[in-house]
Amino acid sequence: MTALLAEYVVLPERAVIPFPAHLSYEEAATLPDAAVTAWHALVEFGRIRAGQTVLLLGTGGVCLFALQFAKLHSATVIQTSSSDEKLQQARAMGADHLINYNNTPDWDEEVMRITGGGGVDIVVEVGGAQTLERSIRSARFGGLVALIGLISGFGKIDPLPLMTRSIRLLGIHVGSADMFRAMNRAIAATALHPVNARAFTFEHATYAYAYAYNFQQSPSHFGICL
Ligand SMILES: NC(=O)c1ccc[n+]([C@@H]2O[C@H](COP(=O)([O-])OP(=O)(O)OC[C@H]3O[C@@H](n4cnc5c(N)ncnc54)[C@H](OP(=O)(O)O)[C@@H]3O)[C@@H](O)[C@H]2O)c1
Repeated sequence: MTALLAEYVVLPERAVIPFPAHLSYEEAATLPDAAVTAWHALVEFGRIRAGQTVLLLGTGGVCLFALQFAKLHSATVIQTSSSDEKLQQARAMGADHLINYNNTPDWDEEVMRITGGGGVDIVVEVGGAQTLERSIRSARFGGLVALIGLISGFGKIDPLPLMTRSIRLLGIHVGSADMFRAMNRAIAATALHPVNARAFTFEHATYAYAYAYNFQQSPSHFGICL
């Protein structure tokens, strides 16, 4: 469970995990969903290593954590976004190559140009119908496409590139408690801080839910709303 709207709760000991001491409660609240999912994709299954290249779609909560974890492993990041302003924010966080997918609709071709025709090692795929085929075309031979979100809905994909280029398409559903603990150790060791967009007090919970919904629909949102 990622959010509890209660002042006091009783939980079994196995249902709670300590968070890194340098984080505030607000920062720690961003971890159980977006962060664990990104960690699962890049580190647990992706086995990301220094010198590899990852492609991150958009600047939402999952991909911003993926950006931080990729840089923590000294990987090269290709970041896409609909907004040049958000791309500059991503650059400030360490993104190496920036693609505005509105201005560059054939962004998979740009990924291939950036990688010298080889493709990326890992794609963090959140877009769904509008992006999945291009994500597959962006991966290297034997690369990994971590399927995390379906923002633009379901669609049909051509399975041929998966087969002919031995690409692994892996569904990711958040992550385990062990992954969460491993991620927290890395966050503590590197003093990493999440990108929080805004936090609300308990009294403003109703407003916060409405704000969070509108925040996620807004083209200008960057980071995680609590
Ligand atoms: N599988 C799981 O366990 C799991 C866990 C967490 C989240 N999710 C899912 O993963 C997705 C992302 O979550 P999130 O929390 O990061 O969402 P979010 O904060 O709402 O961010 C979504 C971002 O995706 C980008 N985007 C939207 N349409 C796009 C398109 N057509 N092509 C490329 N990028 C596009 C946008 O980036 P720009 O504004 O920069 O263009 C947007 O900010 C959601 O569908 C969510 O439900 C799944």
